[in-house]
Amino acid sequence: MYLGIDLGTSGIKAMLVDETFATVGVAHAALTVSRPHPGWSEQAPADWIAGTEAAIATLLRDHPQEMARLQAIGLSGHMHGAVLLDGSDQVLRPCILWNDGRSGSQCAELTARADFHGIAGNLVMAGFTAPKLLWAAQNEPGIFERTARVLLPKDYLRLWLTGEHVAEMSDAAGTLWLDVRRRDWSDALLQATGLTRAHMPALVEGSDVSGHLRADLAERWGIPRVPVAGGGGDNAATACGMGVMAPGTGFLSLGTSGVLFAATEAYAPNTGDAVHTFCHAVPDTWHQMGVILSATDSLTWLSEISGKTVPDLAGLVGDVTAPSPVLFLPYLSGERTPLNDPDATGAFLGLRRATGLADLAQAAMEGVAMAFADCVHALRKAGTPIEAAYAVGGGARSRAWLRIMASATGLTLLEPEDGDFGAAFGAARLAAACATGDISERVFAKPAVRAEVVPDPELAAAYAKKYEAYHAAYPRLRDLAAADA
Ligand code: XUL
Repeated sequence: MYLGIDLGTSGIKAMLVDETFATVGVAHAALTVSRPHPGWSEQAPADWIAGTEAAIATLLRDHPQEMARLQAIGLSGHMHGAVLLDGSDQVLRPCILWNDGRSGSQCAELTARADFHGIAGNLVMAGFTAPKLLWAAQNEPGIFERTARVLLPKDYLRLWLTGEHVAEMSDAAGTLWLDVRRRDWSDALLQATGLTRAHMPALVEGSDVSGHLRADLAERWGIPRVPVAGGGGDNAATACGMGVMAPGTGFLSLGTSGVLFAATEAYAPNTGDAVHTFCHAVPDTWHQMGVILSATDSLTWLSEISGKTVPDLAGLVGDVTAPSPVLFLPYLSGERTPLNDPDATGAFLGLRRATGLADLAQAAMEGVAMAFADCVHALRKAGTPIEAAYAVGGGARSRAWLRIMASATGLTLLEPEDGDFGAAFGAARLAAACATGDISERVFAKPAVRAEVVPDPELAAAYAKKYEAYHAAYPRLRDLAAADA
């Protein structure tokens, strides 16, 4: 038995699988995000522990015998968050999350201080970890001075589970302190942020053992002191769940954030279009991603302000035969690929007296699809021509959205057979890899494909026109917003 734990933005998911990777049980615990100021996004690490305790308690209640036969645990989590700990491992402030845009001005400062592009292989973007620490140094100096250690969100769960300070390569690459080609911390990049190696956890590969379950937890839960695998950032872990370990078919994830992910044979950075270039969760493998910050979150926002549920909104859209008359820019939390602009704002354009909620919901889905079209272009320019991708994440359950997505991006979207191949499943596979030493396709198999959603020629032609308007809107609105500020 293997347990994968995914610390997601909206909840914890714990997934128990057997040696054939068949699901034995799944448990969830909800999490919320607090937004104390515009552009901020935070969570209390204590809530992650409470949520994990609750999810594990559910699995212990429902599957006690299987849990007693556990062989390893794997971890996955939302990336880039900064958990600041003092010398006694006490949390100094709420974790600043991946979609927090407060550190925009610190990005330029860090870029001027050291060769982040060359060594970390990525643009210094608000949301990544390093600029958050410079923000803390400049705005909360008392807290920064007391910071003895910086951990990523899932690595804080690891500290609780094992007592060890350990990170793994895929998530560490998103801090901007990793030399991504050499898979080691960079003293130069740490120094530019006022930190040293002493502030960093030890590094392992995602498929390695990072520590063992604490004796007191093992005793309380009645399970063995199993090894805990390095695991992966949620996107690398999802790739492990989908068997996306080598160039070819990638995946497109419609979660809170949107991700277009491709594995690469070698370290292949391209900072020009804000492509993310990170280590994969197994040795000697890297990947590229386009990341957009508000994917399903765009519909969640519309649901919150309209009083309709997200499924209701999706239901309003129905079978799409023509574009919505409304254009939506999904930059509700700023944008990463390709804009790298934490201050970008969302917009609806083309409203009329006759515009209804169905038009807005369809426009929201189309706006997210256009943002993905940007990611397809960005990866292509980075040397990765992506033609087909598995569609995963909550939003991929909407066939209407997948049709829009395929037609707007030109991608063939592959719907995996029934099953859950997300980050928690990938984390469980990494647990198996660490317990058995096997990182072959036997562990990281690809799912069978249930259906292919191909671009509809008429819709694709209509979206190509709409994409021109989408593309032209952002620079103009940015200038207007700047003039207004
Ligand atoms: C990736 C990113 C998000 C988070 C949350 O760079 O910021 O995908 O990992 O899922």
